[in-house]
Amino acid sequence: MGRIDNKVAIVTGGAQGLGRSIAELFAAEGAAVLIADIRDTEGEATAAAINAAGGRAIYQHLDVTDVAQWTAGVERCNDELGVPDVLVSNALYWNMDNILDISVENWNKVVDVILNGTFHGIRAVLPGMLEKGAGSIVSVASVIGPLVHVPFSGAYQPSKAGMVGLTRHVAATWGHQGIRANVVMPGPMYTDGLAQNQFTEGAEAIAQTFPLGRVGRPEEVAQAALFLASDESSYMTGAALPVDGGQFIV
Ligand SMILES: NC(=O)c1ccc[n+]([C@@H]2O[C@H](COP(=O)([O-])OP(=O)(O)OC[C@H]3O[C@@H](n4cnc5c(N)ncnc54)[C@H](O)[C@@H]3O)[C@@H](O)[C@H]2O)c1
Repeated sequence: MGRIDNKVAIVTGGAQGLGRSIAELFAAEGAAVLIADIRDTEGEATAAAINAAGGRAIYQHLDVTDVAQWTAGVERCNDELGVPDVLVSNALYWNMDNILDISVENWNKVVDVILNGTFHGIRAVLPGMLEKGAGSIVSVASVIGPLVHVPFSGAYQPSKAGMVGLTRHVAATWGHQGIRANVVMPGPMYTDGLAQNQFTEGAEAIAQTFPLGRVGRPEEVAQAALFLASDESSYMTGAALPVDGGQFIV
């Protein structure tokens, strides 16, 4: 028996990286998964790999910044998999610049994918969840933004902190109607995203100073997301869970 048998989950940014690990683990634990991403080749491949392993997944081209694409994606999910029980908001657009160096265009893009994308996603799935009287929303933020601040990535940090605020608004507003909303805050993880943002070597060195002494693995974030998606976390809402090797013990 799986830990989320018969649940339906939408995972944004599920084509690769942490999102792929989350989609794979959710499917292995019994959920039907709609992978929502803009990387069509990787997304189709991830869905095919899940189905080949005996799980149930479909890929949907879904730009999280586009309300119409959310409407179409949720409709397809309802028709082919069922009304979503779980939304994992994980899509990423990254920029390293501080707020003097960043272009307005890049600032808007970061905020649009991370924060507005989470807002659009929650608005798209919430009516169906409220009708069911149950739903779990899991947002993948970061320790950077909600917990600590660094002298770069000036748009990323407020966007990630904003995900926590948005999550707590949802938790406070619809808890009585069976909706839970929580955040996972990863520290540095081995993913393509990490490699592309030139962080890999620095992350390795920094991670040696963590209590657990290493960079994290995507499946370790996926396990935390699974717990928050599942009924095992039934008395948790509005929480922000660090998965950071103990980097920021406060
Ligand atoms: N990797 C890390 O070290 C790390 C650390 C802390 C937090 N995180 C968070 O984890 C999440 C996943 O990170 P990752 O490293 O796997 O990133 P990644 O870049 O490997 O994957 C992100 C995915 O989001 C998709 N995406 C981008 N724009 C999109 C859009 N408009 N609509 C839909 N999908 C879109 C990409 O196509 C990609 O598949 C992010 O939210 C990131 O901030 C990652």
